[in-house]
Amino acid sequence: MHVTQKISDDIIYVGASDKRLSLFENLFPIPRGISYNSYIIKDEKTALIDTADYSVSRIFLENIKYALDGGNLDYIIINHMEPDHAASLQLILERYPSATVVGTAKTMQMLSQFFDSADAIKTYSVKESDTLSLGKHELRFFMAPMVHWPEVMVTYDSLERVLFSADAFGTFGSLNGNIFNDEYDIDKDWIGDYRRYYSNICGKYGAQVQVLLKKASALDIDTICPLHGPVWRSDLAYIINKYDLWSKYEPEEKSVMIAYASIYGNTENAAYCVANNLAQNGVRNIAMYDVSSTDVSELISEVFRCSHIIIMSSTYNLGIYPKMHSFITDMQALAVSNRTFSVIDNGTWAPTAGKKIREELEKLKDVRISGNTLTVKSTLKDSDAQVLKSIADEIAAEIKD
Ligand code: FEO
Repeated sequence: MHVTQKISDDIIYVGASDKRLSLFENLFPIPRGISYNSYIIKDEKTALIDTADYSVSRIFLENIKYALDGGNLDYIIINHMEPDHAASLQLILERYPSATVVGTAKTMQMLSQFFDSADAIKTYSVKESDTLSLGKHELRFFMAPMVHWPEVMVTYDSLERVLFSADAFGTFGSLNGNIFNDEYDIDKDWIGDYRRYYSNICGKYGAQVQVLLKKASALDIDTICPLHGPVWRSDLAYIINKYDLWSKYEPEEKSVMIAYASIYGNTENAAYCVANNLAQNGVRNIAMYDVSSTDVSELISEVFRCSHIIIMSSTYNLGIYPKMHSFITDMQALAVSNRTFSVIDNGTWAPTAGKKIREELEKLKDVRISGNTLTVKSTLKDSDAQVLKSIADEIAAEIKD
């Protein structure tokens, strides 16, 4: 049975959610699932804005059939060719073979990479600011390369002032019947997933997101229709401001994240000591994560929130504890910058993790690595506690400043 909702008289939500998938991109845990959004615009001509993942294709096809109400589909606008959105394209074309696929030149190239029968597809390639009239609705296309693949564009409906924003302004998390942002408590229940989605999916491409934000700022936008998560029809500034901060690699908060790797609990004990000192210095919203039991996507998300990061790691195989190494490698891959780090290590006979961690952190752009540091030899001693206090005092002073 179809499950559709009206965004306006002419624009219909035909997407669907998947609560069964455990790993998005077979990589990121999504305990709340994911939505694959898609939209139909009905005018003299009809257009489908993106398709959906294969996993929801059954309900997706029913939604399209219901929304078109026996009518034909004239255009399929492909803002993003990644299979979580484009995998159902072939199924749609089998049912609506006369539809013209609209996308960028790179989209057309990818069509033949993903589909054997791409030569038979009617296509219309568009460039920056090209338009397509559906009747009353005029669609204008803006290139958004690397947000989050190179072929990406966004589509602006000037009649209803709707931006179909591809992956931008999306989030992990399935939709629970409600499809609009003002039907949820975004700041309480969703912002963590928005941040984790952005930082891990688009985090590397801050400069390209800034370009898209600049283009969007020149448009009169009432509604943002992303490919994942709620449709934004109010308080657009909230999510746009978050995107602006994240893509400039500016911390959302002056606060501290402690990421520790502890084999027998001694480095963890040091983490609690430094956290306690921070708290007594008035630092709020301290985040503590055991890297062994926390998915690295959560760690990356917190890096995008916090101004200060304390890395605390046991030495392992004369190097950095593997899970901590993975976290640091991910920060490098996602172009983390503009943060202050403190490094504390532990080792029983040859503590080398601290030196190697600092060498890796120095590869990040615009980061400051505090000279105030500590090497724990197996367990914390009274003299170590004094150093931890001085590290916490230094960070707290910077945060209060
Ligand atoms: Fe939701 Fe980049 O795909």
